[in-house]
Amino acid sequence: MVLVTGGAGYIGSHTTVELINAGYEVVIVDNFSNSDASSLEGIYGITGVKPTFIEANCCDREAMRRVFEAYDFASVIHFAAFKAVGESVEQPLKYYQNNMLSLLNILELMGEYGRQNIVFSSSATVYGDAEELPVTERTPRKPATSPYGNTKQMAEDILRDTVAANSSLRGIALRYFNPIGAHPTALIGELPRGVPNNLVPYITQTAAGVRECLSIFGDDYDTPDGSCLRDFIDIVDLARAHVVAIGRMVEDKNKERYEIFNVGTGRPVSVFELVNGFERSNNLKLNYRVAPRRAGDVMAVWADTTLANEELGWKAERELEDTLRSAWAWERHVRNI
Ligand code: UD1
Repeated sequence: MVLVTGGAGYIGSHTTVELINAGYEVVIVDNFSNSDASSLEGIYGITGVKPTFIEANCCDREAMRRVFEAYDFASVIHFAAFKAVGESVEQPLKYYQNNMLSLLNILELMGEYGRQNIVFSSSATVYGDAEELPVTERTPRKPATSPYGNTKQMAEDILRDTVAANSSLRGIALRYFNPIGAHPTALIGELPRGVPNNLVPYITQTAAGVRECLSIFGDDYDTPDGSCLRDFIDIVDLARAHVVAIGRMVEDKNKERYEIFNVGTGRPVSVFELVNGFERSNNLKLNYRVAPRRAGDVMAVWADTTLANEELGWKAERELEDTLRSAWAWERHVRNI
């Protein structure tokens, strides 16, 4: 049995599906702060299984204690967190409160109740403007440029120290690159509230006519086509990495009790390439224009995935065009078009 915090969210719902497909029982805790119950319906539609669901805030220690009392999970995947970079700059305490307190509660309760394994959702944001590319897990982290990024760095450190101090605890931090796309059934996907910050939801909403025009933030970077380079990882591939990480710890195959893995494709793709790939794979034209660079963006970041490939035996498999087709299929499902 696995506790999935934030299981109603974008990455959490896809991971829940893959966990169920792999035979795990799942307990979801979510407070719907950036999600809703439709993803739970989608999980049921795909798997035929209704995971146990508890509506609770991970920052509510007593509510979480009741979850630990009631369910005998050995492993936790902790997704629940705020993730908007810009908002975190405006409201840092909201981010520090939410993202740190929830992690502290879970780690404390895991210790108290003797639960062994945790996967933590980290981010390529911890590398910042990296000096070497692609980045390996040993590439030094740069000081965070946003409170959001700082919560990911601090959380990694808290996890490392907590695992070091508790010999029955194991932890894996997965550093996600840019997760995109949706489940091939189009029954679950990303549901951003308001104006999307991320590229692919902005693209699909523009294609749907919800947004007038996509702005490409910068075509004057020192890259082959002048736009930024990212490592876009399919959401189902990303979800599978969590199942492998849990299995590694459950089966006692981890080499160290705390480990970090990059979860990406290892392939840099430019913003222009992604936009053109979206048009090509979905056979449509997108309204876009070049706009000034966005403050805080790094020029390029992509993963060296050797460690995940060799140690986890995991690698990204889905073709980018299929991923981009799934993103559009999901948007059409959401908009009924
Ligand atoms: C962003 C966050 C990162 C976070 C991740 C979560 C920033 C600076 N970074 O990563 O910390 O972990 O989301 O998913 O916000 N782009 C456009 N037009 C748009 C939107 C994006 O051109 O309307 C470009 C961006 O300039 C960037 C690329 O597309 O070059 C990817 O942007 P985005 O999807 O926001 O991801 P990141 O910035 O890489």
